[in-house]
Amino acid sequence: MKVCENVYWVGAVDWSERDFHNFETRKGLTYNSYLVVDDKVALIDGVKHKFVQDQVRKVEEHVSLKDVEYLVVNHIEPDHSSGVPEIVKRVNPTVVCSKRGKEGLEYYYGCEDWDFKVVKTGDKIKLGELTLTFLETPMLHWPDSMMTWLGERKVLFSMDGFGQHVASSERFDDELGVEEAIYWAKVYYANILMPFGKNFLRTLEKMKELKIEPEIIAPSHGVIWRNPSRIIEEYIKWANFESEKKAVVIYDTMWHSTEKLAMAIAEGIASKGVKVRVFHVRRDAWADIMTEVLDAKAICIGSPTMHGTVFPPMAGFLTYMKGLRPKKKIATAFSSYGWGVGAYEELMEFLRNMDFEVTEGIKVRYRPNEEELEVARNLGERIGEMILNTS
Ligand code: FEO
Repeated sequence: MKVCENVYWVGAVDWSERDFHNFETRKGLTYNSYLVVDDKVALIDGVKHKFVQDQVRKVEEHVSLKDVEYLVVNHIEPDHSSGVPEIVKRVNPTVVCSKRGKEGLEYYYGCEDWDFKVVKTGDKIKLGELTLTFLETPMLHWPDSMMTWLGERKVLFSMDGFGQHVASSERFDDELGVEEAIYWAKVYYANILMPFGKNFLRTLEKMKELKIEPEIIAPSHGVIWRNPSRIIEEYIKWANFESEKKAVVIYDTMWHSTEKLAMAIAEGIASKGVKVRVFHVRRDAWADIMTEVLDAKAICIGSPTMHGTVFPPMAGFLTYMKGLRPKKKIATAFSSYGWGVGAYEELMEFLRNMDFEVTEGIKVRYRPNEEELEVARNLGERIGEMILNTS
């Protein structure tokens, strides 16, 4: 599959994988790898180990594997690097990576006889007419991460950045449909890169300094962007936590009491003309919940009290959300309890620790009566007004 002159996609489509370290990949995913063919040949990125033979077969449609002189490892996470030792064993290419990348590869694979070339931002490798330039992008997604720029073709091999977890036969954004590609990129960003928005903005600055103006962005997951301005704009919005006038209500429930509060709060929010989305943490995918949290202005978290504390599935979800570090949210909590208000107090403390703008919520004993449901609707209305009053 040709990306542009001299550049070919030689990756793998994993149609059946449904989990990426706890991120529900309900449409599968891809491990993209690219072949750059000039006087010298470079293979950009590995694939997951079980797809190495698939990758090699695609490489050999263009060149012999032994012609691969450079293997660029932009990122060492095993979805990309676990196939690298097999390529090294077969043809011993020069492995090009960042300093942190080399350290990580040695921890993972030993690498006793590997021929490494450590690069830093601005370093170049000439392949003939074409030149690879490297850009370190720490924490997009790990400290070792970097991107590779093929200036003569204006292609940026962006590794996890701009990726999407979606398996498809289409290889380009316009083939899959730009809106669908943006949607999967948003799911990916919300669940993988949300904590690293500032790093992304710094990378953009660095790209300007180095005059990296891509016409094609080729990430290591999902489709290739041949209309990249739109996805860059979306990334800037996500990195700045630009929000919609939208609230997300996230809950779990034991005997439907906390659920009744969730529905009443959602009704109150919607009555103000504000968009609301409701999620149950055991029925809905956490990846979908976080995608809505990314650009929501408010989040309302509900849990019953069990054994004096937060209901375990909600505690798991809160740990997931804490790691992703959403920002700039109005927040509140709601809870039903029998004889101890542990969950409500813990939820409120959690929200304050997240540095959200926390507003008093609601707790009810056992089961909400009509009066209490009205209080919950009023809480929803208040959240709706707060959203409308923020710029
Ligand atoms: Fe696709 Fe951070 O690995």
